Amino acid sequence: AAAALETVEAPVSVNNVKTITKEVTILFGSQSGNAKGLADKAKKTLEEQDYKVTLSSMSDFKPNNLKKVDNLLIIVSTHGEGDPPDNAISFHEFLHGKRAPKLEGLQYSVLALGDSSYEFFCETGKQFDQRLEELGGTRLYPRFDCDVDYDEPAAEWLEGVLNSLNQAQGGNAAPALTTEAPQGLESQYSRTNPFRAEVLENLNLNGRGSNKETRHLELSLEGSGLTFEPGDTLGIYPENDPGLVDLLIEELKLNPEESVTVNKQGEVRSLKDALTTYFELTVLTKPLLEKALELTNNEKLSELLSSGDVKEYLHGRDLVDLVRDFGPWNVSAQEFVSILRKLPARLYSIASSYAANPEEVHLTIGAVRYEAHGRERNGVCSILCAERLESGDTLPIYIQKNDNFKLPQDPEAPIIMVGPGTGVAPFRSFMQEREEIGAEGKSWMFFGDQHFVTDFLYQTEWQKWLKDGVLTKMDVAFSRDTAEKVYVQHRMLENSKELFEWLEEGAYFYICGDEKNMAHDVHNTLIEIIEKEGGMSREKAEEYLANMQQQKRYQRDVY
Ligand code: 2AM
Repeated sequence: AAAALETVEAPVSVNNVKTITKEVTILFGSQSGNAKGLADKAKKTLEEQDYKVTLSSMSDFKPNNLKKVDNLLIIVSTHGEGDPPDNAISFHEFLHGKRAPKLEGLQYSVLALGDSSYEFFCETGKQFDQRLEELGGTRLYPRFDCDVDYDEPAAEWLEGVLNSLNQAQGGNAAPALTTEAPQGLESQYSRTNPFRAEVLENLNLNGRGSNKETRHLELSLEGSGLTFEPGDTLGIYPENDPGLVDLLIEELKLNPEESVTVNKQGEVRSLKDALTTYFELTVLTKPLLEKALELTNNEKLSELLSSGDVKEYLHGRDLVDLVRDFGPWNVSAQEFVSILRKLPARLYSIASSYAANPEEVHLTIGAVRYEAHGRERNGVCSILCAERLESGDTLPIYIQKNDNFKLPQDPEAPIIMVGPGTGVAPFRSFMQEREEIGAEGKSWMFFGDQHFVTDFLYQTEWQKWLKDGVLTKMDVAFSRDTAEKVYVQHRMLENSKELFEWLEEGAYFYICGDEKNMAHDVHNTLIEIIEKEGGMSREKAEEYLANMQQQKRYQRDVY
């Protein structure tokens, strides 16, 4: 960041008479909750230094108030192929539109979250950073782009921001930030200090002959102090497949017992342990390939990196491919691990209600297996759960709050849930919760999967909720039982009149599951239904849905 620092301009220019206030506005745009967590932390840190902090989700912030803001911090993740997260969409649009205000006098800094295995790494953060400058704002501190392992750079960014703010006050540099300490009644366990949860139950939900394997996992939270609400997610730190670790060490011709230092704190592990528990092996990124080139000086790798075919190469390949394709690797164990990314936690939508099942958490995990480039490939966490995890074993876990996916405050508000496949998970939690608290609101579930006989996840539970009136209505779409495919959105269309009536009555609409195909199609079908049943133009229907989103009546948990 040294070079970038030079771009920081003096925060108070001579012809700007405005005094620098100790007021800071933090806006976050967050899909899975990481940006929100960092924003909370930034608020706490700034308040400890007597700043007055306004913290808001981008979707809750009135963009016209931007003109009144002196110091703005933006913490935003990038979603999918370079898209803003749902709760950043409207603010992002406003800022990039014609109605965006001039923002001279605004000081700002952006913390961008992303994943360098995607082409448009940190794109949304980059766009905000650039746009705020175009509108006349001054960078208080340079933007940081964080990869999946964001803790260290994010802490560094926050410290830099604080220093800049303090200097603008004419004060001294901020003291180094202390690491977070457990507070009050909150659990001591967190993303950076996971709890080892015992496995109570681990079942395959699919019947014999299914194309799928969906695991139902029950974990114990006993003694952790951890709680959660329906809609929250659970992070699991998985271990890599031991077969893959062995193969990689063999390819590298290294000694598995050799010691390596894995991080800046100087933690030492054996190579085998480090590759099993600490580093990511199954995802390649462009920055990783660049570092590999520095190590190997491999000509073929150099050609690939300058060819423009990198994206295609990265797809579906892992470290074993990299080592095989661009050998020989005459590198030490330490040199090799120094180019790797830390293994990030996997997030799963929680499938149970804490109120209904205290001190437990349930998950619905689809086993990921496929073949690519001539080799069988396994999802890291899902296959650990499917093949190597038994009752009594433990998993390092933490709870990730998800404010973007919550039951209505009002237990009488109607809800519509669309959750095919493992997208069913949070809705099982919703139903358990509503049953437990005796909520009276109507509810309507759309479920879909391949075959009725083998793939109707939690079938008996759904049928019981229907019978007991906890669930008002259920529509199912089994796509491979009929000659022609039927999907959840077809069931929505068949019920379009009633669905629109529910929306008009104030129903909340939830989608969980696959983003690329399902969530996209369901979104379009929803607009189509609003258009047709509401007698609106496409534009008006889109506005109707955007309005619902603004009122938090359209929520998505997609992956
Ligand atoms: P398919 O695999 O038979 O195509 C859960 O995975 C269910 O979602 C399956 O029945 C799957 O059908 C279905 N599905 C696949 N693509 C979809 C899409 N674009 N919209 C809705 N459902 C889809």
